Amino acid sequence: MIKLGVNIDHIATIREARKTYEPDPVQVVGLVERAGADGITVHLREDRRHIQDRDVTLIRQLVSTKMNLEMALSDEIIEFAYNLVPEQITLVPEKREEVTTEGGLDCIQHISTIQPVIVLMHKKNIEVSLFIEPDLRQVEAAKEVGADRIEFHTGSFANAFYQSRGRHTARLREPWQRERERLFLAAHKAQTLHLNVSAGHGLNYQNISELLSMPALDEVNIGHAIIARSVFQGLPQAVSDMKALLMQNKERDIH
Ligand code: PXP
Repeated sequence: MIKLGVNIDHIATIREARKTYEPDPVQVVGLVERAGADGITVHLREDRRHIQDRDVTLIRQLVSTKMNLEMALSDEIIEFAYNLVPEQITLVPEKREEVTTEGGLDCIQHISTIQPVIVLMHKKNIEVSLFIEPDLRQVEAAKEVGADRIEFHTGSFANAFYQSRGRHTARLREPWQRERERLFLAAHKAQTLHLNVSAGHGLNYQNISELLSMPALDEVNIGHAIIARSVFQGLPQAVSDMKALLMQNKERDIH
């Protein structure tokens, strides 16, 4: 079964737009879990543009499924995560000027920085995931550095899928199919190396079905699409709609 981690950063984005106390991301944890989420994901950014330290501390106490803390390779955040002890951390690249996490972590370049963080987190049994591009060399480097899991950045796939909407000829549909193939190849490589596989970024109610048969995929992290749908339908419905789409994979396995 593919598990659903719900990224609740955007609840805090709305709060921070007014620098006020509502809506409170802490309050949605139980709601999201009762609606079927298998985990709560938050990104404590160095610039604290949405999620704040107080949110993370309280969410840690409330989560009854799995807490996945996305974070950059910054000493301050590493210390914070070590003391927090979430079930999982996901190391991501971070640039202050970006709107969202724009690409994967370069494990080859940062191998000597990543390795000690993994060793440190393992001392507290924290699972370490690396957010990488679907690139075979990056998958190999993630294995070499000692990661437990990788999360494929699905941004290029999601963008190509979005640009193909309304186009029905094979030629025009090619870009997203190529991106999908790249993801599947990288996932297959991860499977042979016994790495756990997640996917995230830009996944939504339209494109998710294309990834359900990705080798070894057992977790997706989805934020924007779920929070966007919740504006119209409420958060529990938005979560359970996504969960139902992910369950189609299970049904496919059975038949
Ligand atoms: N996974 C990671 C590592 C991310 O950085 C993000 C974006 O914060 C997501 C998943 C969720 O992406 P989206 O909000 O596009 O669903």
